[in-house]
Amino acid sequence: MKSQDIRTVFLEYFRKKDHRVFKSASLIPENDPTLLFNVAGMVQFKPMFEGLVKFDYKSAASIQKCLRVGDLEEVGKSPFHDTFFEMLGNFSFNDYFQKEAIKYAWEFLTDIVNVDSERLYVTVHKDDDNAYEIWAKDIGIEKNRIIRLGDETNFWGPAGGTGACGPSSEIFYDFGVELENKSPCTIENDCMRYKEIWNLVFPQYNQDIYKVRHPLKNKGIDTGMGLERLAAILQNKKSIYETDLFMPIIEDMLNMHNYEYDKFRVEINSIADHVRAITFAIADGIIPENDGRGYVVRRILRRAVRIAYKMGIQEPFLYKLSSSVINIMNEQYDYLNDQSLKVSTIIKAEEERFLSTIGQGVALYGQYIDKHSSDTLSGDIMFKLYDTFGFPLDLTCQMAAEDNLKTDIKGFNLLLKEAQERSRKNTAFISSEKSEWKIIEEDVSIFKGYEKIECNSSVLMYRESGQSLEIIFKETPFYAMSGGQSGDSGIAKGENQCCLSVSDTIKSDLGNVCIANVKEGNFDPNIRYNLQVDREKRKLTERNHTATHILHSALRYILGDHVHQEGSYVGPEKLRFDFSHYSHLSETQLRKVEEYVNKIISHGIVLNTNIMDYKQALKEGATALFSEKYNNSVRVVSVGSVSKELCGGTHVSNTAEIGVFKVLSESSVAAGIRRIEALTSESALNMFIDELNVNKTIRTYLNVKSNEEILKKLEHIVEEKKSMEKTLRKYEHNTLKDIISEINEHLYSENERMFIAHIIDSAGIKQQQLREIMDNLKSEYNNISGFIGAIDHDKLHMIAFSADPLINAETIIKAVSKMIKGKGGGRKDMAMGSGNIPLNIDEFIRNVRELFHNENRPD
Ligand code: SER
Repeated sequence: MKSQDIRTVFLEYFRKKDHRVFKSASLIPENDPTLLFNVAGMVQFKPMFEGLVKFDYKSAASIQKCLRVGDLEEVGKSPFHDTFFEMLGNFSFNDYFQKEAIKYAWEFLTDIVNVDSERLYVTVHKDDDNAYEIWAKDIGIEKNRIIRLGDETNFWGPAGGTGACGPSSEIFYDFGVELENKSPCTIENDCMRYKEIWNLVFPQYNQDIYKVRHPLKNKGIDTGMGLERLAAILQNKKSIYETDLFMPIIEDMLNMHNYEYDKFRVEINSIADHVRAITFAIADGIIPENDGRGYVVRRILRRAVRIAYKMGIQEPFLYKLSSSVINIMNEQYDYLNDQSLKVSTIIKAEEERFLSTIGQGVALYGQYIDKHSSDTLSGDIMFKLYDTFGFPLDLTCQMAAEDNLKTDIKGFNLLLKEAQERSRKNTAFISSEKSEWKIIEEDVSIFKGYEKIECNSSVLMYRESGQSLEIIFKETPFYAMSGGQSGDSGIAKGENQCCLSVSDTIKSDLGNVCIANVKEGNFDPNIRYNLQVDREKRKLTERNHTATHILHSALRYILGDHVHQEGSYVGPEKLRFDFSHYSHLSETQLRKVEEYVNKIISHGIVLNTNIMDYKQALKEGATALFSEKYNNSVRVVSVGSVSKELCGGTHVSNTAEIGVFKVLSESSVAAGIRRIEALTSESALNMFIDELNVNKTIRTYLNVKSNEEILKKLEHIVEEKKSMEKTLRKYEHNTLKDIISEINEHLYSENERMFIAHIIDSAGIKQQQLREIMDNLKSEYNNISGFIGAIDHDKLHMIAFSADPLINAETIIKAVSKMIKGKGGGRKDMAMGSGNIPLNIDEFIRNVRELFHNENRPD
C-alpha cells in the first residue's frame, strides 16, 4: 500500500468514527515556548486536554509532521530511526477511553490495512490491569504476547515538560528473525526485530512546571503511529528507508552520484533523512542560524554535508534533493510546491557556506590526530572547529567517536561561554521566577479590542512573574503580540483606586496576558477594573499593520507572485516585512513600491473585516501564511481589491489614516529572503522633518538657498578639492625633491658600496613616500643599501633596503625595531616598520650603521 493511501485510509477510518480531522500543525509549535519543535500529534491538542480552551468536538485525528533530534546517531544506522517523521494519531477529549482506543487500533491494523496479527505484540503499563484485560479478553491476544513494563517505556509525556501525560500501551511488530541483533532477542531489551509501531497513551494527569501531577481536565486518548514504520510493514520492507517515503530520494542521489546503495547504506539513509528534515523545517519558516531552532537545522544540514564530504561529494547537492522530497510529499503537504525555490536557495547557500570551511576543518582535525597520541580530543581543537570552521559540537564528537577518541567537552564549554549564553536561549524556555496561576473565576477570556480600546472587566487569573504581575482579564481590549503585531500597553484602573500600568500583552492558550506593574495603591484580584489601551501607540501600530498588507500586495504586483511573507514586525515606531525574493531591489523598484503604497493610502480605501470559512476565504483569494494554524472560521482583512489577508491583527478603518509610507531600508535576511523596513504616518513625518532640518543646516553652512544650489555648490567644492589635491601633490613632489637632496648629503660608502642611514624630520612622510625616496636613490645608485627613517608626530616610520645579497634588509629592520620598541618585516631586499622615536638620534644612526657594517662582513 502506498504511503499516500495509508494516510487517506487512516484519516477516513477515524472520520467515520466521528473524529474531526485536523491538518498537521507547523513544525514550530504555536504558542508553546516549552517546545523547540512539534514532536507529537498531541501537541496541537494540549490546550484541549487541559481544558484551557472551548472547542466543539470531542475527538480528533491528524497526521502530524514531527521532528525529534534526540537519537541523531541512530539515524541511518538503524533501519527504523529518523529525525523527521509523520505521526498518525487519534485523540479523545473526555469522549472514549482505553477500550475503544484499543479496539480502534486493533481493528485498523488487522482489518483495515491487514497487518498479520500473528506478528503483533503489545505492552501495557505494569499497573494498568484494565488495559491488560482489554487486550487479553476483548481483543483476545494470548497472554504471552502482552508484556507488562514500567514507567520508563510505558508512561508518556508530557511533551515539553508540562501538560497532559499518562500510562501507555504500545503495539509492536515482528519484522523478522533476520533483524535480530541481540541474544536473547526480546521486546524488553529493544531488539531490532521487534519495533514499536503504535503508541496508545491514556492521558490522565496534567503535569505542572514543578513536575507535580494534577488530574487532567479532559482525560482521554492520545495515540501516535509512525507512518514510516507502518509503510515498511505494508510495503513488505525491513527498513523505513526502503519505503516509498525515502526510496525516490535515495534513487535520485544514486543517479546523481553513481554510488552503490549497499556500500553506503548508512550514509545515504542519513542523508535522505536529513534532507527531509531540513526541507520541512525550512518550508515551515526556520532558517539555519546560530541559535534556537535554526541551529538545530544547521546541525542536521552540516551533518549531512560532512557525511557526503567523506563519501567524496564536495559540492552542494542537498538542495537538489530537496526537490525529490517535495515531489514525494506535496500531495499531502501542498504548500511545499510554493516553498520549493526558497527551500533550495537556503539549503544551497548553507551548503556553500559550510563547504567553504569544512575542508580546512577536516584537515586541521587530521593534523591534530596525527600529532597527538592522547585518547582525548582537546577542548581547544573542538572550539576551533566550532568557532572558525563552523563544526557543530555534535559533529566534532561524532568524528571523534569514529576515531575512538574521547572529547573534552568541559574544556570546550569553558571556551564557549559566550556561545553558551546564546544557546541558553534554546533551552531555557520556562522562567522559574513565575508563580502558579491563581484562578479567580473559571471562564474564557474574550478579546474585545477589535471594537473598543477601553472596557470594564474583572480578573480571571493572575500570577507573579519577577517584579511584575501577569493578569488575564475576562474581557480585554488589550491586543496580545501575535502575527507580527506588537502587544498593547496601557493602564488598568481598579475600583479601589489602584492603578496598574500594562507594559505589554502576550498571547497564551489561557487568554491574552497583560504584563502589569502596580503604579498606585494595591492590586486586588477581586475587584473590577477599567482597562484602557494606550490609544496613540495602538493607532500608530495599526497604521503600520495596514501598510504592511499593502506593501505585501505592492511587492507581489511589482516583483511577482513568488513573493511570500516570511515574517513581519509591526510596532508603533516602524514596520518590518520579510519576504521571499532572490535579489536585492533596485532603487527604481523601491521607488515603485513606495508609489504603489502611497497611492493606495491616498485613495482612502475603507477596510473590511469578515469572519468566514477557511476554505471559502482561500477560494476568494485570501493570502494565508502556510505555517500558521487556522481554525475553520477565519478573519479576513481586505483593503478594497488591493489586499485580502487572513489576519487576526488590528487595522485602520481607512487607508488615508496611514498618511504616508516611506521605505527606510532594504536588505538581505538569508539566502532568498529580503527585508524591508519602513515608516508611516508620524514616524515618516518625523523622518522628513529631521531630513529637512539637516538640509537646512547644510544650506546655511554652504550659504545657499535651494537644493539645486546645494548640488552646484557641492560640485564646485569637489572640483576645488580635486584641484587642491593636485597642487598638494606638486608641493609634496617638491618637498620630496628637497628631502632627496638632504639625503644625498648623508650618503656614505664602505668597501666600495654606497650606504645611507638617515632620519628625516619632515611632516607628511609616511611609508609610501619612504618607498619613493628609496626608488629614487636606487635609480641613481644601483648598488645602494641603507636605512631611512621619517618622524611622523610621535612615531618613526622606517624602511631598510639592500642591493647586496649579504645584507638582509629584514634582519636589519627587525633589529632596529627592537631598539625602538616597534615592529617590522619584509623581504631580504626591502623591509619596512615603525616604532618609537629614538631619544638620541645620532647614537641611533650610529647603531644602524653598525648593523649594516656587521651584515656587510662576510662570515
Ligand atoms: N503522544 C504519544 C507519542 O508521541 C502518542 O501520540 O508517542
